[in-house]
Amino acid sequence: MATATPPASRGPGPAQVRQTQLFIDGQWVPARSGRTFATVNPATEEPIADVAEGDAADIEAAVKAARAAFDEGPWPRMDARERGRLMHRLCDLIEAEIDDLAALESLDNGKPVADARAIDIPLAVQCLRYYAGWADKIQGSTIPINGNYHCYTRREPVGVVGQVIPWNFPILMVAWKWGPALAAGCTIVMKPAEQTPLTCLRLARLAQKAGIPDGVINVVPGYGPTAGAALVNHPGIDKIAFTGSGETARIIMRQAATSLKRLTFELGGKSPNIVFADADLDAAVAGAHVGIHLNQGQCCCAGSRLFVEDSIHDAFVERVVELSRKRRVGDPFHPDTEQGPQVDKAQFDKILGFIEAGKREGATCATGGKRHGTKGFFIEPTVFTNVSDSMSIAREEIFGPVLSVLRFKDSDELIRRANATDFGLAAAVWTRDVARAHDVARRLRAGTVWVNCYDVFDAAAPFGGFKQSGFGRELGERGLDPYLETKTVTVSLAPPGRG
Ligand code: NAI
Ligand code: MG
Repeated sequence: MATATPPASRGPGPAQVRQTQLFIDGQWVPARSGRTFATVNPATEEPIADVAEGDAADIEAAVKAARAAFDEGPWPRMDARERGRLMHRLCDLIEAEIDDLAALESLDNGKPVADARAIDIPLAVQCLRYYAGWADKIQGSTIPINGNYHCYTRREPVGVVGQVIPWNFPILMVAWKWGPALAAGCTIVMKPAEQTPLTCLRLARLAQKAGIPDGVINVVPGYGPTAGAALVNHPGIDKIAFTGSGETARIIMRQAATSLKRLTFELGGKSPNIVFADADLDAAVAGAHVGIHLNQGQCCCAGSRLFVEDSIHDAFVERVVELSRKRRVGDPFHPDTEQGPQVDKAQFDKILGFIEAGKREGATCATGGKRHGTKGFFIEPTVFTNVSDSMSIAREEIFGPVLSVLRFKDSDELIRRANATDFGLAAAVWTRDVARAHDVARRLRAGTVWVNCYDVFDAAAPFGGFKQSGFGRELGERGLDPYLETKTVTVSLAPPGRG
């Protein structure tokens, strides 16, 4: 598995890319159409590899394989503990080639290789191991109903699941989706994002090596309106799990209505990050910085609205701006790099468009505000001050390294403003006042609230959105629910002939 340390300026070469075909029923196959698409290195704008482009015909084959694996195959029927053991073995294989996987992730996505190595992959392994532990702990209950009956529930896998994931955390999103599905005994057809198919394919290869039976995991790279839509529309799919934009979620919800598929959505956000004057300001400055800039700002839970209490506003904002100014942007394979390129041209253009809108609408661009360099999709870490609630940069998800700073005086008014959004994914509050921390945490309409911290994730803690940030939860015990049906079994205890 060992590959030479990649040259700092270019990263690994195509030799690192081992899987580019579709993975269906344990076989590596070309798309039935014969078509391929290029996946691009966002740091250089150069193609990395041509990947098989799946569409409806390939989805048809993948669903057939997953259906057979679920309806007749060993996966839902084997000892639950054995499923957990195979999942642990997959984790062992991921850990054994963590350097290669981190390099591949960085190459395809643009994130600093050090982040992929230290954040994405360890969290992915933690998630898969956490759910491996659940495999033999999924239980029903006995229920004291009226009459002479023995009534109990069984928790059974929901069936064949279609999983559509985005490009911002490719490996981690695979883990969030495969973990609970595999533990529950479901089988899977996954469509990775067209921007970042490579690590998902590699993980499918490792799952195969780990001994997860053919047909349990199928991976069909391709585009949303073709491969993605075919998955959503397929009558053989029982449930869709989707992470991505609200716009696409609306399309999926409409199409899934035909066959009444179960749905879980993890969508975007415009999360408020709230700093009171009594906070530990050193920690809050660092939290404001990481909250917006982690992963090039491409986080659904990014703390993109920074609310700062009036009395500390100017001094605090100066420190936040200073950190952004000093952030090291550049080659994702350089060990000192903190920020790489945005994932693709479309995201790059969208973010620059928001930056222009912020300037036009009258906010002050305190730092950043333009492209970094001349090649690759790099954007300067950007902070806007004098932002008002009605500006587009305060309302819409930018999904880039662009922070909007808002000023507040009164705490009731603050809560109203923080909640005045269609999103409700995450929020944070910084204060030393314990009562206020819990009070604000209770009043914020968001699925996750961090107090005196930001971006703390753990596989055991549920994550998901209020309002238009989605429904259903991922991670934790709650994350299993969408992959399980509850069956009630009622047995008459009256002896035969005397009922
Ligand atoms: P998207 O929602 O279009 O793409 C996410 C996934 O859905 C990809 O795999 C894509 O191929 C698939 N998809 C697209 N159209 C589909 C369809 N009709 N049926 C089935 N699957 C479909 O997101 P996109 O275009 O990559 O990014 C747009 C914006 O969405 C971003 O700027 C950001 O604001 C937001 N976003 C939020 C994410 C999150 O983690 N919540 C992740 C990625 C994007
Ligand atoms: Mg899209």
